[in-house]
Amino acid sequence: MPTILITGCSSGFGLETAKLFLERGWDVIATMRTPNEGLLPVSERLRVLALDITEPENIARLVGTVGHIDVLVNNAGLGAPSPVELTTSQTVQALFQTNTIGTLAMLQAVVPQMRVRRAGVIINVTSSVTVKPLPIIGVYRASKAAVNAFSESLAIEMEPFGVRVHIVLPGRSPLTRFGTNARPHLRGMDEADYSPLLLQFIKNVQDDKGPVTHVRDVAEAIWQAANDPSTPLRIAAGADAAIWMAEEGL
Ligand SMILES: NC(=O)c1ccc[n+]([C@@H]2O[C@H](COP(=O)([O-])OP(=O)(O)OC[C@H]3O[C@@H](n4cnc5c(N)ncnc54)[C@H](OP(=O)(O)O)[C@@H]3O)[C@@H](O)[C@H]2O)c1
Repeated sequence: MPTILITGCSSGFGLETAKLFLERGWDVIATMRTPNEGLLPVSERLRVLALDITEPENIARLVGTVGHIDVLVNNAGLGAPSPVELTTSQTVQALFQTNTIGTLAMLQAVVPQMRVRRAGVIINVTSSVTVKPLPIIGVYRASKAAVNAFSESLAIEMEPFGVRVHIVLPGRSPLTRFGTNARPHLRGMDEADYSPLLLQFIKNVQDDKGPVTHVRDVAEAIWQAANDPSTPLRIAAGADAAIWMAEEGL
């Protein structure tokens, strides 16, 4: 059976993707910062391993020991809502270190074995907010848009070697830990001029009505990218993401 390595499996999209590939018979390497085997069904096809994608030695050790990887899913990521003007350098660094540099480091570690083998699939989870100019998440959008950009180039570079590259763009998912993990960055913002935008943002994050993205939508989009060679470079995951991308002609 093929082997998939997924980053950020402690919750949300990553956890659901690991479950779906296990259910469908794949060998799964589920990585998370703090390994917790109890999150996933017991299976001899499952390896739960520690990985922080901001630590290059950690990446090198892991990729050096797990062996053959057919599909890499770069899912680990974080949000940090903040008006562009007020985004601190720590927040900028946290976003780019994880979402952009961590993703790049992971694929650079795994691509060599795929290129030599002339087979493999790289799937990078970014966000449908990269296609819309939205306030309060400007630097987050930038960190994910950078992944879109290098994924597009990588797809062309990998084509002669039979390695496919896909970008999965989920919509808004109030059901993962993403919003809760992101909210602390809003604390301490005392710039009243931004209050209406911040309040609107918090309302949108908490609102579970209207079209949203379910964790299964993302897992299924990743399943499609992993298994169907006719999958396009960019895939919307979730009803809201599909609407947004269609509006942008993507
Ligand atoms: N939820 C949304 O609305 C939404 C929409 C579009 C795109 N996305 C993207 O989808 C991906 C998954 O998000 P989610 O909604 O499933 O959120 P989530 O529940 O917060 O999951 C994020 C995962 O990334 C992990 N992670 C964070 N920093 C890491 C690091 N340095 N090294 C390794 N793992 C790290 C987290 O691990 P810990 O438990 O250790 O923190 C967690 O497992 C992210 O890339 C996010 O940007 C989310």
